Amino acid sequence: MINQQLYDTIFKRKSVRKYDMNPLSETILNEVKAFANSALPLVPELKYTYTYLSAGDIKNLLPIKAPHYLCLYSETKDHYLMNAGYLLQQIDLFLSERGLGSCWLGMAKPNKQVVAQQDGLEFVIMLAFGMPAEPVHRTSVGEFKRKPVEAITRMGGEVPELLEAVRLAPSASNSQPWIVGGTPSAITVSREKLNLIRGALYNKMNQIDIGIALLHLELAIRRQGGQPVYDFAAADGTTGGEFMAKVEVKPIDE
Ligand SMILES: Cc1cc2nc3c(=O)[nH]c(=O)nc-3n(C[C@H](O)[C@H](O)[C@H](O)COP(=O)(O)O)c2cc1C
Repeated sequence: MINQQLYDTIFKRKSVRKYDMNPLSETILNEVKAFANSALPLVPELKYTYTYLSAGDIKNLLPIKAPHYLCLYSETKDHYLMNAGYLLQQIDLFLSERGLGSCWLGMAKPNKQVVAQQDGLEFVIMLAFGMPAEPVHRTSVGEFKRKPVEAITRMGGEVPELLEAVRLAPSASNSQPWIVGGTPSAITVSREKLNLIRGALYNKMNQIDIGIALLHLELAIRRQGGQPVYDFAAADGTTGGEFMAKVEVKPIDE
C-alpha cells in the first residue's frame, strides 16, 4: 500500500471496539501479515517481531473482544517505545484502509505461556483487529475528539497539513501528549511533562503515542514531496515539554 492511501486514512480512521468474532479468512490474514512484515521501523537497529493471537490467548481488563490480536515484541533499547508506535500505526492505518477494524490495546497482555515463546524480546503492546461490527470510518474530521491545533504547537499557520496529521493521531486515553515546535524545516516533537501520578500511568504509553504522531507527521511530509531525517539526541527546549525527536525535512532525492 502506498503512502498516499495511508495518509488519506489519517482523516477517517477510528478505534473499532465491536467485532464480528468470526476469524478473518486465511487470505485476508496473510495480507495483514505481509503488510506488517513490510512496515518500516523508526529505529532500524532495534530487533522486533510480531505474533498473532486470538481472544483465548490474551488477558484484557477492558471488554474488547476481537477475533485477532497482533502483538509486538521488541528489544527494550533506546527509543523502542516510539519505534513500537511508529510500526503499529502503519498497520492500524492499513487495516482501516482495508475496511478492517482495529484498536490499540495498552491494557491487554498475552497469557504467560504465550509470552515465554518470544525469548529475548519483550512484549510491548498489541492491536486488536478483525471484521468490524460498527462503522470503520469517520465521515468528517469534525468527528475526531481532539485538541485544537493551537494547543499542540507554537508554529502557527506555517505547516498546517503537517500539524493536522499529528493532531488527528490516536493516543492512549486520547491524551494527545505531543507538542510540535521548531521550524518548518527542522520540526521538534516533544511530549507533555507528566506529574508523578500521571507519569506512573502514562510514561510508557506517551512514548508510544509520540511514535504514532511521528508516523503521521512523516506521511504528511512525504505527501508534500519531502522526507524526514530523525535525530533523537538533539535536545531542544523551545517547545516546552520533554524533547523526543527532531525531524529535519529534506527534499526526497537528497
Ligand atoms: C498506546 C495506545 C493504547 C491504547 N489503549 C487502549 C485500550 O487499552 N483500550 C481501548 O479501548 N482503547 C485504547 N486506545 C485507543 C484510544 O483510546 C483512542 O485511540 C483514542 O481515544 C482516540 O480515539 P480514536 O482512535 O477513535 O481516534 C489506545 C490507544 C493508544 C495509542
